[in-house]
Amino acid sequence: MLDQLEKLREEALQALDTIQDEASLQSWAAQFIGKKGAVTQALRGMGQLPKEERPAFGKLANDVKVTLEAAYAEREAMLEAQRLAHDLEEGEIDITLPGRTLERGRLHPATQTLRRFYRIWGDMGFQVYRSRDVETDEMNFTMLNMPPHHPARDMQDTFYTTEPNIILRTHTSAGQIRAMRELGENGTQPIRVILPGMCYRYEQITARSEVQFHQVEGLVIGRNIRMSDLKGTITEFARRMFGAETQVRFRASYFPFTEPSMEVDVSSADERLTKGTGWLEIAGCGMVHPVVLRNGGYDPSVWSGFAFGMGPERITMQRHDIRDIRMFWGNDLRFLKQF
Ligand code: DAH
Repeated sequence: MLDQLEKLREEALQALDTIQDEASLQSWAAQFIGKKGAVTQALRGMGQLPKEERPAFGKLANDVKVTLEAAYAEREAMLEAQRLAHDLEEGEIDITLPGRTLERGRLHPATQTLRRFYRIWGDMGFQVYRSRDVETDEMNFTMLNMPPHHPARDMQDTFYTTEPNIILRTHTSAGQIRAMRELGENGTQPIRVILPGMCYRYEQITARSEVQFHQVEGLVIGRNIRMSDLKGTITEFARRMFGAETQVRFRASYFPFTEPSMEVDVSSADERLTKGTGWLEIAGCGMVHPVVLRNGGYDPSVWSGFAFGMGPERITMQRHDIRDIRMFWGNDLRFLKQF
């Protein structure tokens, strides 16, 4: 019986040595080491042996099984290696070809600047309030102390729609009244928000002006909010945005919805940007006009606030030396890939 097992092993190993393809390898496995293979059969037949022969037989049968399984695995690996080498030689895979590079997407430069704004204002305790692009004349102008025929309306050329009184917002200030009414709870709650978004103006498109651009509006309402709060807040923002050494300058200005109103300049070493003045304009701002507070639901004898508006595209242009605002929405990949 033991001889027979030895013979089986010899025979199987010899057969395996001649195998050159996967299909024959599988049928070899079925014949010798599979569930119905010769080794399994032999082990099954062990019961018929006299008791004293069983241990030796069992041991040898197991031994044969282990040898054959190992030989099988080795042959399989060898065939696989041969197949690969063959493929390479036949040129089915040219390993000298350069790989395909994956194109990485990136954020639009305006988005990058907006996200810096969100980060800085967020760190300073401001929440984002999203208002709408399509607005009413009332929200964009009248409620902001610019009734019909007010000359200040001329400062912002407007896209009108065929719907009466429905326009595209010309500035994010249009969201101020909505924020006050929604968050103020009838003039009882303080507010500290920024209102980012796209604005639209019916203007000649030039290197310096586009028909669409972002603004980031800020609005703070509370009791005892003063001009010093406005100046301190804007100054802190400017230092975080442009660097700790940045100087900030406030110039008297006019906006219908703030009183007093100011424009904000930051110091800059870039001669070309500042046209030699050393100052760069970054924002309009002021103390919220009592009429606007009242329109938002607040009693101006108790509540006060400040507001500001900034143009992130302008700031992006300054940071990256972009000289033509039309690049932003031109979808020219050569431009966008630089950021
Ligand atoms: N809305 C103004 C503009 O588009 C910018 C602005 C100025 C916003 C002063 C403000 C502000 O909130 O207080 O030119």
